[in-house]
Amino acid sequence: MGNFLSEELIDEIKDANEIVDVISQYIQVKKVGSSYKALCPFHNEKTPSFIINQEKQFYKCFGCGEGGNVINFIMKMENLGFIEAIRLLARRANIEISMTGTSEEIKRQIKEKELCYEINKKAGRYFYGNLTKQPNNPALKYLLGRGIIPKTLANFGLGYSINSWDNLMLHLQKEGYSLDDIQKCGLIRQNKSDGYYDYFRNRIMFPIFNIRGDIVGFGGRVIDNLMPKYLNSPETPVFNKSNILYGLNFARKNIKDRQIILVEGYMDVIALHQAGFKNVVASLGTSLTGYQGKLLKKYCDEIIVCFDGDEAGEKATIRSLEILDEAGCQFRVMILPDKKDPDEFIKIHGRGKFQEHIDKSMSLIDYKMFLAKNKYFGNTIEDKVRFAKKISNIIKDIKSPIEREAYIEKVANETGISKESIGLEVLDKIENSSVNRSNYKYNPNYRKYNNYIKMVPLVERKGHIIAEKQLIKFMITDNKLIEHILNDISAEDFSVAEHREIVAYLASNMDNMKDKR
Ligand code: UTP
Ligand code: MN
Repeated sequence: MGNFLSEELIDEIKDANEIVDVISQYIQVKKVGSSYKALCPFHNEKTPSFIINQEKQFYKCFGCGEGGNVINFIMKMENLGFIEAIRLLARRANIEISMTGTSEEIKRQIKEKELCYEINKKAGRYFYGNLTKQPNNPALKYLLGRGIIPKTLANFGLGYSINSWDNLMLHLQKEGYSLDDIQKCGLIRQNKSDGYYDYFRNRIMFPIFNIRGDIVGFGGRVIDNLMPKYLNSPETPVFNKSNILYGLNFARKNIKDRQIILVEGYMDVIALHQAGFKNVVASLGTSLTGYQGKLLKKYCDEIIVCFDGDEAGEKATIRSLEILDEAGCQFRVMILPDKKDPDEFIKIHGRGKFQEHIDKSMSLIDYKMFLAKNKYFGNTIEDKVRFAKKISNIIKDIKSPIEREAYIEKVANETGISKESIGLEVLDKIENSSVNRSNYKYNPNYRKYNNYIKMVPLVERKGHIIAEKQLIKFMITDNKLIEHILNDISAEDFSVAEHREIVAYLASNMDNMKDKR
């Protein structure tokens, strides 16, 4: 199917066609307060009831009920099908799309998705009605009891699926949708005797939105203590748990300092939002996927990972950091005390304290050191050795020699183990690491050095010898340092004959090596 009219391309086309701009080309639009008003082009009226919501990028006529996004507007206004409307908007935004591959199959898939969004939206409205229009229902009591205010309920479109086997199903059928289509959205399931029943029953409903704000699925939380705590929509044409980040549709409009805070749960996103941190997304309880990592990278410069403070959260953090790293994201880790999750923390300590923890968040290396310290650091010699070994393994992955040095110093200060010993340990780890072996395997200097290392008995590896070896190591692994080091020291200054030989060799080949940079 290639990337022809992929969801991303459709998003790009929508993003490139600002709705007020587009509609203003057809009718006269007037700004009133924070929204825009016009005389509805779809029915006859004398006072304007056609409203455009710029923030949410949709329009709605309160006279005739017509409403939707920029694509729906073009479809209606120009009397076009979905594909043709997309084509027009792409042309308008100078986005090239090849229509030659528009097979019937693709058209069908796009239509199927649009229908899913529509049915999900109807279901979301229905759940919201159940929650808000019947005072004293258990879901509302529960949410208010947890400190969620009505405005937040509305913002996130929270809802309630009442304790019934067919309530939603009957409602959607009445709205004209077939059982087959409702099932495709994952809202009902087939039972053994060919009947259908509601998938979500007696749960607090969290609509899950895509970037554009369409509802792609739901998470449903129990109100009592039954299991599973959360039931999520099954995979559907529009819902795949590992491709979506809960809250990204809100967060992307509220990116603060180019940062996004990544949390674990629905309730964390909602509680932080309510407390004023609107740049928050959740990974729906699964560990982060590569796709989600890339998605985050698209919308921010730095991710603050703030998972639950328990052991599961710690594991999820490490895994997610690796994925963010692979996706090329910048990130820091934030740790909440007392095994609290962000929702519990902010309720107890408030906004200011949460911000303090954001400001104190750590780099990956600092975080790994923090974990190693918690796990291994103790008072006995064995503890210290174990800790130093663990830490050396972490430090070996730092690419910059200068940064490496700084961390070695930090660990030395914290453990009382000498810098030299830790340095030596790190050096050994580097020598034994496969990454480094493959990196330097083809460097003749490294091979020469490596052979030499093997010949030096272990007992000799200390003090000034270690220092000389470190220097040589730096010169070989970082060509920029050769010139710098040789400004101050020459081959003759080295005490070990082999060192003098290697440094002399490096000095005479310096220009050569620089050229290869
Ligand atoms: P949590 O148990 O931390 O949920 O799971 P939470 O959001 O803090 O909920 P509260 O505070 O107990 O109400 C984190 C996330 O993992 C997913 C959900 O997305 C949840 O928000 N999850 C959890 C599931 O999908 N199924 C489960 O049974 C539990
Ligand atoms: Mn929680």
